[in-house]
Amino acid sequence: MAPRLLLALALWAGCSPCSGREGEIASAPTQSRVWCWAFRYPMAVDCFWTLPPAANSTRPTAFIATYRLGVAARGESQPCLQPTPEATSCTIPDVQMFSMVPYMLNITAVHPGGSSSSFVTFVPEHIIKPDPPEGVHLRPLHGQGLRVQWGPPSSWPFPEIFSLKYWIRYKRHGAARFRQVGPIEATSFTLRAVKPHARYCVQVAARDLTDYGQSSHWSLPATASGPLGQ
Ligand SMILES: *[C@@H]1O[C@H](CO)[C@@H](O)[C@H](O)[C@H]1NC(C)=O
Ligand SMILES: *[C@@H]1O[C@H](CO)[C@@H](O)[C@H](O)[C@H]1NC(C)=O
Repeated sequence: MAPRLLLALALWAGCSPCSGREGEIASAPTQSRVWCWAFRYPMAVDCFWTLPPAANSTRPTAFIATYRLGVAARGESQPCLQPTPEATSCTIPDVQMFSMVPYMLNITAVHPGGSSSSFVTFVPEHIIKPDPPEGVHLRPLHGQGLRVQWGPPSSWPFPEIFSLKYWIRYKRHGAARFRQVGPIEATSFTLRAVKPHARYCVQVAARDLTDYGQSSHWSLPATASGPLGQ
């Protein structure tokens, strides 16, 4: 191969993120949708909503966000805390852990012509989804493998009490597939089955240690702290 092409390939491999199916594809909302995540369990549950394109209203739509424990109408409603009445998110503080009944959130959109309510029910433990781990970095161990280190997501409030477990996925630059290891109950791991002097793309995901909820998205690709394959 011509040196120019090699250089171009090397630059491309050096800059490309770990390609893979990442994130969720947002589609235009055709009806209102409400969803909640516990990425800072058990401190709070954060809820979000989208609305269909507002029908012709000139004034901003305001929302009334309330929740109660249990779906029975006689339950007492509490406000889900909104930064402003127009915001499309709210926070339920002081989550009751291991509740026997689900929470019900009621988002009522108030527009000039009237109001409409949307609901979502959830059990906090079932909607745990941590943010991705942070500060992932790599240290090559002189032919002995690749040391991977990371930290829990900074939004996870009590990592010592509500421990997380982790998965690593890695692939050599240019390889088609990731390999995966885990679960790992630590914040570092040595990948042994790596080729010396090869460049690797490494990402880490987190999940609640007791398997509640879902895994986080994959972290940003690791950065190398030493010279990695030249
Ligand atoms: C929106 O407003 C315009 C002007 O006031 C009106 O002519 C039109 O019918 C309205 N459309 C809807 C969907 O309400
Ligand atoms: C939802 O909230 C609105 C506004 O507070 C209220 O009028 C409505 O009755 C609530 N619906 C239910 C089913 O709780």
